[in-house]
Amino acid sequence: TEQQQYSKGLAGIQVAESDICTVGVKGVGLNYRGYDIKDLAAYSTFEEVAFLLIYGSLPSQNELSNYKRLLSSFRDIPGGLKDILERIPSSAHPMDVLRTGCSVLGTMEPEVNPQQDQYRIANRLIASFGSMLLYWYHWTQSGKRISTVTSPDDSTATHFLKLLRLDGKEPSGLHVKAVDVSLILYAEHDLAASSFGARVTASTLTDFYSCICTAIGTLRGPLHGGANEAAMILLSKFPNTASAESGILEMLKKKELIMGFGHRVYRNGDPRNPIIKEWSKKLSQEGGNPTLFAVSQVVEDIVFREKKMHPNLDFYSASTYNQIGIPTNFFTPIFVISRTTGWAAHIIEQRSNNKLIRPSAIYTGPEPRPYVPIIERS
Ligand code: CMC
Repeated sequence: TEQQQYSKGLAGIQVAESDICTVGVKGVGLNYRGYDIKDLAAYSTFEEVAFLLIYGSLPSQNELSNYKRLLSSFRDIPGGLKDILERIPSSAHPMDVLRTGCSVLGTMEPEVNPQQDQYRIANRLIASFGSMLLYWYHWTQSGKRISTVTSPDDSTATHFLKLLRLDGKEPSGLHVKAVDVSLILYAEHDLAASSFGARVTASTLTDFYSCICTAIGTLRGPLHGGANEAAMILLSKFPNTASAESGILEMLKKKELIMGFGHRVYRNGDPRNPIIKEWSKKLSQEGGNPTLFAVSQVVEDIVFREKKMHPNLDFYSASTYNQIGIPTNFFTPIFVISRTTGWAAHIIEQRSNNKLIRPSAIYTGPEPRPYVPIIERS
């Protein structure tokens, strides 16, 4: 019957009205609250975009400086959270560290009054995810208890790079800008699985931290945010363009997924890809790794030639982050820092016009049957 039709993976189904973002309307383009991603990536900063997504409009200069000060005041993390981070094994995946850190912070600074607390918690998490990750990293790698506070003028990108490197130097403008642009590109993408997950969780009227834990767990998978890490693992197998060409052809023959390619919504290419690709190229020309860029280009060419598939944002994010010296398993956590802005926008929007999200399934199991007492079962 009509009622029994469904779309596997909810493909093509609209499940909410939203003011936040348009993805691939007519197959192309991406806007955050009406602003083209190309303009945001070229002229804006991550903090402006975070403000735009969370509060609905671009900040004035005054609002932006206040907002940056607020974020910087949220970078220190409680001693109790540090104790717990120290007990997480060094072998843990950094995404599990962030999921845990989010959950622990929720026990220490719980959400009491959602209408007042949700903005504070969103900003607290955006500002402190980098702190949590790098506190855990330096403790478990080298037994160092780092200060997670840097200069109040530091952007989110600078804060992250300073805590990663701990060399007391200002990171290069090129590296800061490349990370900043990637944070802008990753910030929001309408009902990607993690944002939908966050909205499902929010729709039960639970607390903000629970929504973000859902989102982190959802982002972690290789079909979603985990694809940037998976793309780097793939690229690392190819020392040169010839091995990339034969390796990719072999994978396609075996019908293996090429991570960082394909998209549910964009069929003619991801508008974020040319932007991040340009940064990867720039890095490769200015002290980065030209071979890695060349290998990436060959992978792109072969996948397009053979499958007519385009890279998504995750593909050249991999070579971008790698050339900045960011460890591969931090790629998806950077996505978390950025997407917390979009998740927050979705949670706030869901709460403002809530209806429990509770679809149903088409039952395909056994017909009703008599219960058999345990002593009679063979
Ligand atoms: N490599 C090889 N084949 C692919 C790929 C790929 N990356 N993506 C799709 N295909 C094939 C797929 O196997 C299917 O073939 P067939 O029709 O023979 O079964 C066909 O193309 C159609 O794909 P689909 O699986 O129906 O598409 P979907 O909308 O369900 O999946 C996707 C979208 C992103 C999960 C998928 O393209 C994929 O697995 N890509 C690799 C992982 C990835 O890069 N994810 C990041 C997504 S975008 C940004 C983000 O969220 O981080």
